[in-house]
Formats: sequence, structure tokens, C-alpha cells
Amino acid sequence: MTSTSTSTREITDVPFARENGMLTVGGVPLDLLAERVGATPFFAYDRDLLTQRVRAVRGALPAGIELSYAVKANPMPALLHHMSTLVDGLDVASCGELRKALDTTVPARRISFAGPGKTTPELRQAVAAGVTLELESQGELRRIRAVSRDLGVPARVAVRVNPDFAVRGSGMRLGGGPQQFGVDAEQVPALLAEIGSAGDVEFLGFHIFAGSQNLEVESICAAQRATVDLVAALADAAPGPVRYLNLGGGFGIPYADRDKPLDLGAIGENLADLMQDTITRRLPEARVVIELGRYLVGEAGVYVTRVVDRKQSRGRTYLVVDGGLHHQLAATGNLGRAIRRNYPIAVASSAGPETETVNVVGRLCTPLDVLADKADLPPAEIGDLIVLFQAGAYGLTASPTAFLGHPDPPEVLV
Ligand SMILES: Cc1ncc(COP(=O)(O)O)c(C=O)c1O
Repeated sequence: MTSTSTSTREITDVPFARENGMLTVGGVPLDLLAERVGATPFFAYDRDLLTQRVRAVRGALPAGIELSYAVKANPMPALLHHMSTLVDGLDVASCGELRKALDTTVPARRISFAGPGKTTPELRQAVAAGVTLELESQGELRRIRAVSRDLGVPARVAVRVNPDFAVRGSGMRLGGGPQQFGVDAEQVPALLAEIGSAGDVEFLGFHIFAGSQNLEVESICAAQRATVDLVAALADAAPGPVRYLNLGGGFGIPYADRDKPLDLGAIGENLADLMQDTITRRLPEARVVIELGRYLVGEAGVYVTRVVDRKQSRGRTYLVVDGGLHHQLAATGNLGRAIRRNYPIAVASSAGPETETVNVVGRLCTPLDVLADKADLPPAEIGDLIVLFQAGAYGLTASPTAFLGHPDPPEVLV
């Protein structure tokens, strides 16, 4: 991977090379790609970077651990298809994602469906498809059992456990304490007893997903150890052998200069120890899965905008671009961040060294639409392309695209 020397403050290294000064994605200079796409703004995802990232994760994971892609991070069909050829399984969070996942070559038994509030019609689709349903509550179990009886197809179920520990360092916590996600660990034995005595669904195992966007290796490793211990203890109450153990993931990516990339090697070693010490001994039949979204795709994508206006206001320079928070909400700091920090950003045609301090803002009529606050960028004029990095995960589909009625941006896989 090559790194650009994009510019200064709050800009991390990014894996996109420059050719004759112009940033490239998938080897295509961005000015040419913009012509090919026919419009700005747009999202571009780099196929080779996706492949390299999956290869790096697989290289670090011990043998016997499967890799699942969490479709919610980026469900763009071409990207999903590419990912489906690289990973072992897919995780979905809705029937929309389920349909897209079933369109790939990943077999249904390698697709898991997690998330609170699955409705009965959605459960019918999932049971009919034969995917693994990750149980979020006793009520959901009851509805799944009714669906199974009605269809004459036993649902394949795993219990999503809300653990009795929280994971330090997660940008977004989805486990520990009271939660809408999963079944509290102390309630799981009773649920397992119901699954066993009813006999109308097929018990596969457990899923624990306790947090997202974690950059602290030690806390990820500690969570994995605690997860395995918890599952090993719960397995005593299970109605059959544990054949599926989904350890979650939560691997984070750097968004600002102070963020350090994860040390995958250390996570892999921890998992190797766990496989050797506990999993093969206490859960010998378990298919062990790590489930990642952001880490696999986040750094492979860019959001490309064009400068529409350049203006001064009381000593500050504003670059108004043709995109904004309606496409890339996360970069404006309005998606689950307490403190707004600039995402890596660059002028496509220039890496400096001359810079100026600017605010890059979108075209929505709200002061929230700030893509970069006091960023040091090479001088940019109207018509220049401004590129936001780390846009491969939770970008377009995690943004309020209908807000102010601008057209949806194209997405391309290069
Ligand atoms: C059940 C589940 N799996 C996977 C993910 C993907 O997380 P990430 O993109 O941080 O890897 C999430 C995120 O919220 C999740 O809730």
C-alpha cells in the first residue's frame, strides 16, 4: 500500500496513491473517474484494497476461525458481491439486506440475521430461507417457534447474549448493562431450557456482539476472552452441543490523526490462545466466527465532492462543496460521536506543500453540515475535487439522503 502525503492536521495516512499529483482509486485518477461516473458527488470503493484487507485479516486469524462480513457497513451490491467471494459468511440486519445476501453465492446456512424487533413476516422470510436467526429476546423466540411450526421448517437459532461485562474503548456499545440487544446472560439458561423442551427449533449456539469501532487491542482481546468464558459456562445449560460461536468483532479504524490502527497480529495471537486453551477443549464442535463490517470496508472507500463556491466570512475561508451530511453523515460528526473530529480529507489534484486553513461545508441549510473544520488543505478553487477518506463504511446508507431533496450520489466499485 502506498500513502499519500495529503496534508497536515488531523489527516491520517490513506492507502490511495497519486498519479501525476492526482489521487487515484483502483488505479484510476479521480478527475477521470469523475468524468466516467458523470456526476459529483459520488462514492468510490477500491476493489483491491477490499481484497487486501480481507487477506490481512485472514492472515492474522488462526486457522479454523471463519470471517463474516456485516452487510450493514456497506450493502452496495457490487461491493457485497465482491466481499461475498472473499469471506465465509454474511451478517444481515434486515430483510432488505437478507435479500441482497441471498443473491450472492454465500449459502444460506452461512448467513446470520441479528437485530432487535424482527417482525413476524421478516421471521417467516428468514426461516424459509434457512439462515441463522440470532435471538434477541424470549418474545422473539416464541414468534420464531410459531413460524417454524407453521412453515414446518425448524428455524436455525443462536442466542445473542447481552453479556454481564461491557467492552472498554468501543465507540458504540451494544452489550453490557441494560440493552435492547440480545438476551441478558442471566436469562439465557431459562431460554435454553425452553428451546430444548419445545424441540421446534434447531439450536446452533451463541452470538455476542458487545461493541463497535474499538481501537484498543487489549480491550478487544479481553472481551474475546470474557466472551469465550461466558459461552463455555452457558454451554452447560444448552440443549445440545454448541456448533456456532460468533465472537462479534468491533475492530475499529482510524478516523483522525490521534487514532492508531489496530495491531491485528496481537488480536490473532489472543484468538489462537483461546482456540487452543478453551474453545477446542470446551466447545469442540463450534464453528467460530468473527464478524466485521467497518474494518473490512471502511478504509477502502472515498466520498468525492466538487467545490461549488469559495467564500470568506469574517476571516474564515469556506469551501462549499456539492455533497454534505445527507450522504456522509458520519464525517460531520453527527453519527454517534460526542466530539467532532475531522475525517481525513484532501484536494484530489494537489498534495501541497502550500496549504491554507479552510472550512469545508456541504450545501445543506444547517450549521451541522461541516465536512472539515479548520483543515489545512492545499488551496482549492471552484471546480476542484475534495475527497473525504474512510468513507467505505456507514456512509451513504447511514446518512439522511432525503434531507433537502438532493439526488442520491452514485456509488462505484473500481
Ligand atoms: C450484530 C452486529 N454485527 C456486526 C456489526 C458491525 O460492526 P462493525 O462495522 O463495527 O464491524 C454490528 C454493528 O453495529 C452489529 O450490531
